[in-house]
Amino acid sequence: MRTVKIGVIGAGSHANNVHYPSLSMIKEAEVKAVCDLNPNRLRMTAEKYSIPSQYTDYKSMLEKEELDAVYLIMPPHQLYDIAVDCLKQGLNLFIEKPPGITRSQTESLAWYAEKHGCRTMVGFNRRFIPLMRRAREIVEERGFINQCVSTFYKNILSQEPPYYSGAVDVLTSDVIHAVDTLRWMGGEVSNVFSSVRRLFVPYDNSFNAMITFQNGAVGFLMSNWAAGSRVHVFEMHSKGISAFVNPNDRALIYRDGSSEPEVISTFEAAESTEFHVYYGFLSENMHFIRCVIEDREPETCFRDAVKTMELVEKIYANAPR
Ligand SMILES: NC(=O)c1ccc[n+]([C@@H]2O[C@H](COP(=O)([O-])OP(=O)(O)OC[C@H]3O[C@@H](n4cnc5c(N)ncnc54)[C@H](O)[C@@H]3O)[C@@H](O)[C@H]2O)c1
Repeated sequence: MRTVKIGVIGAGSHANNVHYPSLSMIKEAEVKAVCDLNPNRLRMTAEKYSIPSQYTDYKSMLEKEELDAVYLIMPPHQLYDIAVDCLKQGLNLFIEKPPGITRSQTESLAWYAEKHGCRTMVGFNRRFIPLMRRAREIVEERGFINQCVSTFYKNILSQEPPYYSGAVDVLTSDVIHAVDTLRWMGGEVSNVFSSVRRLFVPYDNSFNAMITFQNGAVGFLMSNWAAGSRVHVFEMHSKGISAFVNPNDRALIYRDGSSEPEVISTFEAAESTEFHVYYGFLSENMHFIRCVIEDREPETCFRDAVKTMELVEKIYANAPR
């Protein structure tokens, strides 16, 4: 296979902000069809990206188009049945985070993918941010990451639950990015000590955890949606070296007690100032397309995503109430 023929289900805001722009930059990716229930979004997206076929019913798209892969960029609580239909047709499948709304949904999706020989990927884009990759590479030159931190703060104090009117909880819907990145930095999880709180709202909005990993590393999740602003930063530490990474801005690398850090800007690491490039979306899309062409498992395949959903489950289960 030289090019991957793609059908995209979903022409909403995230798909338009990052996935269509990324796919249009990848020469091996050919978007043949787009599907959305909303006729305006459908038409505008098809026109903007010169996509030949438009559908409002995904079943007719799957029936009529000859596709190698489907991008399913939909509200997470509405995608399960569609994902199963794609997998049963043997289509390689990219979905956004969260990969379903429970660990058991993710596990079933992984089972269907394996049964039908599909390559799958979840859009855990933080792992693909060029600055994060560069920082990890530098830190790991000194050995394994023995301590890591994922911090995710936001300022959302609405009484109404924020994600799809509460259909998906805050940890599973969005803090999951920080949880998945901890796994990426720390490895296989061994134990979880956690706290889940409700600060000023009638739903859980602060999740903190200390996670020990099988290699002896320790990781910290710090998240709170009642904080002053959006701050989403990471730390990686190895022998005599530390990286403090803000993917929106820059990484500071401290070595051997020096108070003068090496500074790497996120634009420099990505060689771009475009959001979908420096925030990892182009790289994750390139990874998926390459894996489909080479018939190998993407780093964030559904089977791997089960582990992130398990960690989410443990953060709830191990928190004293
Ligand atoms: N990785 C990230 O940083 C990031 C950021 C934002 C959103 N997301 C994820 O992206 C996904 C989409 O979020 P969004 O904000 O773009 O949502 P959205 O509501 O803007 O878009 C979803 C689109 O899906 C369409 N749709 C719904 N049901 C459909 C169906 N049966 N057939 C065809 N089209 C259908 C809707 O009409 C809508 O246009 C979510 O899973 C979200 O968590 C990820």
